[in-house]
Amino acid sequence: MNEIIIELVDVKKIYTLTKEIQVHALRGVDLQVSRGELLIIMGPSGSGKTTLLQIIGTLDKPTSGRVIIDGIDVTDFNENQLARLRREKIGFVFQFFNLIPTLTAIENVMFPMLLAGKYTKEEALKRAQLLLTVVGLEKERWMNTPRKLSGGQQQKVAIARALANNPKYVLMDEPTGNLDVYSSAKVLDTVKWLNQFYGQTFIVVTHNPEVAEMGSRLIYIRDGRIMGSPKTLIRLDTLQLSKEEIKMRLEAQLDLLKIELSSAKRRNAESKIIDEIEEKISRTEEKLRGL
Ligand SMILES: Nc1ncnc2c1ncn2[C@@H]1O[C@H](COP(=O)(O)OP(=O)(O)OP(=O)(O)O)[C@@H](O)[C@H]1O
Ligand SMILES: [Mg+2]
Repeated sequence: MNEIIIELVDVKKIYTLTKEIQVHALRGVDLQVSRGELLIIMGPSGSGKTTLLQIIGTLDKPTSGRVIIDGIDVTDFNENQLARLRREKIGFVFQFFNLIPTLTAIENVMFPMLLAGKYTKEEALKRAQLLLTVVGLEKERWMNTPRKLSGGQQQKVAIARALANNPKYVLMDEPTGNLDVYSSAKVLDTVKWLNQFYGQTFIVVTHNPEVAEMGSRLIYIRDGRIMGSPKTLIRLDTLQLSKEEIKMRLEAQLDLLKIELSSAKRRNAESKIIDEIEEKISRTEEKLRGL
């Protein structure tokens, strides 16, 4: 089923610097993103990539045009409504890992869950452990503060944190911009894994062709406009994970889904949402059996 979760309609963004000077950062962008995509956005410096990502993330509003998320036009939402929407539906991973320096890895992942109040404290702790397993951070590192983690490890924590409240989509701006080649590959494997095995939607801005290669779709932006055919489909690379690693991650995934299910039932979620989670559980169980 092709479910569109983000739709931009003729989005323009003008920054007014002085009365005389205006910057046209986006000049009419139409974009639809479906659930399960790993969308890559490339383009020269200053072409409007970050501006576009900020608008998709509702961190910034367009000067004109509409922003529709999960079927709801959020263009005129107020800041409270937007903050809630971001907390519940959007995960963010930036170039500078932006972890809270005084909290451990696991506390950093728990933090947004405790803020949103969707999970109990026990569930938040359990989910944080499972998410760190899913992104492949070794258990020995879970109690470290960010300063005692490498860049690649910090970025894994940032990804786990972005997934904390089970977002509809995750936005990444140059996620490997500060990483060496080896750490980049590890982080990319994690993103690919989450996309392929979990169906997690990602939108990734990058200059790095290796990052671009893992996408399911690639769009180019130049001077505030999306260029050419946005439909380029790229093959997905196979993952470099061992069978044990896959099993461990799938089992963590399954436990995450079970917590999701009990949280949804407790909150009297719509039956559509409950059905969806149950379907994911049976798909994951099937994958585990198939190993
Ligand atoms: N807050 C702002 N105020 C004024 N102009 C801005 C602001 N943010 C971005 N711009 C301008 O808008 C244009 C697009 O910027 P944006 O940051 O979206 O580019 P980018 O594609 O992300 O570039 P890079 O690859 O260097 O990160 C640039 O000309 C930039 O100078
Ligand atoms: Mg940028």
